[in-house]
Amino acid sequence: YPMGPILAIESSCDETACAILSAEGEVLAEKVISQEAHAAFGGVVPEIAARAHLALLPDLARKTVEASGLALHDLGAVAASTGPGLIGGLIVGANFGKGLAMALGKPFIAVNHIEAHALSARLPGVSKKNISFPFLLLLVSGGHCQCLAVEGVGDYRRLGGTIDDAAGEAFDKVAKMLGLGWPGGPQLEALAKEGNPAAFAFPRPLKGRAGCDFSFSGLKTALARQIEPYGNTALPRSVAADLSASFQQAVADVIEDRVRHAFAMMEPPPTTLVAAGGVAANGVLRASLTRIAAEHGVPFVAPPLRLCTDNAVMVGWAALEVCREARRLGLPMPDDRAVRP
Ligand code: KG4
Ligand code: ZN
Repeated sequence: YPMGPILAIESSCDETACAILSAEGEVLAEKVISQEAHAAFGGVVPEIAARAHLALLPDLARKTVEASGLALHDLGAVAASTGPGLIGGLIVGANFGKGLAMALGKPFIAVNHIEAHALSARLPGVSKKNISFPFLLLLVSGGHCQCLAVEGVGDYRRLGGTIDDAAGEAFDKVAKMLGLGWPGGPQLEALAKEGNPAAFAFPRPLKGRAGCDFSFSGLKTALARQIEPYGNTALPRSVAADLSASFQQAVADVIEDRVRHAFAMMEPPPTTLVAAGGVAANGVLRASLTRIAAEHGVPFVAPPLRLCTDNAVMVGWAALEVCREARRLGLPMPDDRAVRP
């Protein structure tokens, strides 16, 4: 088991991140670089992301170690996200981590990226009260959209997920149609503040349907149809604002309905509703989630944005939780878990 601080690496998408946590879970240093090269393409380009991780990671790791006040030989283990995610970046992060661990003679711990998001809310300090199992996790980002019953460390049940786009992906695509920059979610939310959420009657895909799967592509098509009449002429700002507000409301309504179903699918019921991923920053969505949690008499917890979006602190924390659970169960340390991007 890690005897000493752990260096964690995240490189599954377009964030290059490193963090150092003490063996007790205290964050000693954290650094993240959001790669900017993708903005020009309006989306993450996997090949560019992988090359950028390769260029950025060694220096970022060195600076993170420096910022922690530790020396490399003080580290007790190295961890990295090994999947799911973009394969090129995962290979860069995993091999950098494995190489460093080997050079230091310390264990390497492969971390599942979704597991890291799932456990991030349990990081000391995120919630006033320690979040106990089982809890309900809504993971909504550019790449993920799913509800998980988190029943214990290593014990996750997927209640449902998107059958087409992820929620953030839908925000980004719609923002692009409206001529907003990338990533589109935050800009769409800002514009929506000027608009009327009832101006357009967009569909609520899968609302009321059994289970808790999500679908956003029909919503995206419905919005495209509203823009069509404008052809190549610029969309009046007031129309773009109404479209943004109506779209955002439809997404929040759908997620609210799906999360209600997710609650009903958990027995015993969850102690907490947790949201993670970049879309969890959305104010309208947060308001719906706060309401659903209150209806069920449980707290709603969303980690601060820097821990909600891709980061290495959650990777280090998940590694510690998994090791602690292995020790509790008398299992060998999970350093040889298959690296499966
Ligand atoms: O978790 P994240 O940083 O990266 C991954 O996708 O893994 O999430 C980014 C996504 C983008 O699609 C972005 O548009 C969306 O989260 N997002 C938002 C908001 N802030 C970020 N979507 C809606 N409202 C926001 N305020
Ligand atoms: Zn992620």
